Amino acid sequence: MKITVSRKAHFNAAHRLYRPDWSFEKNDSVFGKCNNANFHGHNYELVASVTGAVNPETGYVIDIKTLADLIYDEVEVSFDHKNLNLDVPEFAELIPTAEHIAYVIWRKLRKRLDPALDLEITLYETPRNFVTYRGE
Ligand code: NI
Repeated sequence: MKITVSRKAHFNAAHRLYRPDWSFEKNDSVFGKCNNANFHGHNYELVASVTGAVNPETGYVIDIKTLADLIYDEVEVSFDHKNLNLDVPEFAELIPTAEHIAYVIWRKLRKRLDPALDLEITLYETPRNFVTYRGE
């Protein structure tokens, strides 16, 4: 029997979407308002979902406190109230789109989870815009 256990988390962060190798005009046409040179913020909502077999002794797939602590350590401490472009080394060379942020979060959590568990990350950049990454 496999069950999915999910934990929600939240962080506020600033970013700017642009490529230094493109002109301002090209960045503006591709990234629009997200190319604002002075950065802008989002209230990101994260859902981390872990799927696996239920341990017959505990009845748990994963202790949700363990998952909550992992998200706190790996995501909230690193990203909350940060400028993703300037403060977070993973985005020094990677444009901090929702896609890339979900990918970076997945990698950070994946390396600390039991390999037998599947991990899916859903990241909301706004209440209506969100991305999902499953490690494919
Ligand atoms: Ni943005």
